[in-house]
Amino acid sequence: DEKLKQVTDICKKYDQEQLLDAYKRIKDEKEKQEFLDKILTIDFKKINQLYNDTKKEKDFNEQNVKPISYVDKSKLTKEQYEKYYKIGEKTIKEGKLAVVTMAGGQGTRLGHNGPKGTYDLGLDSHKSIFEILTDTLKEAREKYKVDIPWYIMTSEENNDATVKFFKEHNFFGYPQNCVSFFKQGRLPMVDTNGKILVDEKGNIKEAADGHGGIFSSLLKDGVLYDMKARNIEWVFIGGVDNVLVKPVDPVLIGISIEKHVLAAGKSIIKASPTEKVGVFCKHNGKPSVVEYTEISPKMAEEKNQEGELKYGESHILCNQFNIKAIEQIGKQQLPYHKAFKKANYTDKSGNVVIADKPNAYKFEAFLFDAFESLDDIVVMRVKREDEFAPVKNKEGVDSPETARKLYIDFHNKERKL
Ligand code: UD1
Repeated sequence: DEKLKQVTDICKKYDQEQLLDAYKRIKDEKEKQEFLDKILTIDFKKINQLYNDTKKEKDFNEQNVKPISYVDKSKLTKEQYEKYYKIGEKTIKEGKLAVVTMAGGQGTRLGHNGPKGTYDLGLDSHKSIFEILTDTLKEAREKYKVDIPWYIMTSEENNDATVKFFKEHNFFGYPQNCVSFFKQGRLPMVDTNGKILVDEKGNIKEAADGHGGIFSSLLKDGVLYDMKARNIEWVFIGGVDNVLVKPVDPVLIGISIEKHVLAAGKSIIKASPTEKVGVFCKHNGKPSVVEYTEISPKMAEEKNQEGELKYGESHILCNQFNIKAIEQIGKQQLPYHKAFKKANYTDKSGNVVIADKPNAYKFEAFLFDAFESLDDIVVMRVKREDEFAPVKNKEGVDSPETARKLYIDFHNKERKL
């Protein structure tokens, strides 16, 4: 009764009384208690604030934006390359690098029923994306004679299926004690009136809160502690959906150490103003990324004196952070970005509504917003054909077909060298 009173007061205070209707519909006593407990974990003030922010025009303010300087990996002199390589190689051999793969997403866009990493790319070997990523780490382990800890970020939806997949495949031959999983956070979804939705089963409707929550998850879930215990200094953080990702890159580490920065990101030249990639820039004098969903056509199309895109250093979600930066950022709250999505829900009268068009907001923090809390980062331009083969859509651009071709071409080229 005490708890119910507390929850009732909260729901009234924040104008979320539809949750009390949902509570009344639950029959099972244990489920009733769980529902109340869940409500008590929600930061209503934050949700209301996020909803109010949806009415603001834009997430990204393009005033005070400037292009960012970058280092072109292919244009380093032999001396520079060797210097950076040696520093990075030493760091890797000393066991100071860890890799994090963000694999919270499902393969929905690919038409795959399961975690994205479990998708079979359609190579003759029938390797899944996870196996392809494991190959990269196995190769590095051989080359540098060191175990590289691998942390895989999953979500509430796909954690069990991901862990099961790795176990079934015996971790693809990578030492099991070097692989761990941690879950990203979730936030309630709200409708266009700011009301928290109730899902088809009568629970609070939640969605993954974006990969920006990774820093606090690393802190909360003890991963950072584990990294420190293993003497890790640098952490490569990448997405799961790039089958040419190169997470163990001595040059990237070497440059970061030489230039005394706490973070770095790889870039490629943006193919066209409309390519669906974020771009690196300076925002209020700080390193930043403006996401493709938020860039204005004007900014996307702007050219420099050389006739190239002024904002053409594409972010490929291949970033690297020093452990000190992770610790510092993990204590802050990164800003949230809104996404308007289709969400099935249970209405006030208990009827399930199947959404046929976007009807609800989900809120996501982006990992790369963390760059703005640092004074400087290294942006290292790499070759698209060597490091970027995204698997995003079922067909057309960035599809398994295009990624497969890029993957095969790259490995054929490597074999010939
Ligand atoms: C992403 C980048 C974009 C970049 C492009 C390169 C974001 C927001 N944008 O766009 O700047 O140019 O990749 O391919 O990342 N993920 C999670 N949890 C989440 C959300 C995403 O683990 O809550 C993972 C996904 O599994 C995936 C990666 O992050 O590995 C990218 O997510 P996605 O939403 O597909 O981003 P894009 O729109 O492709």
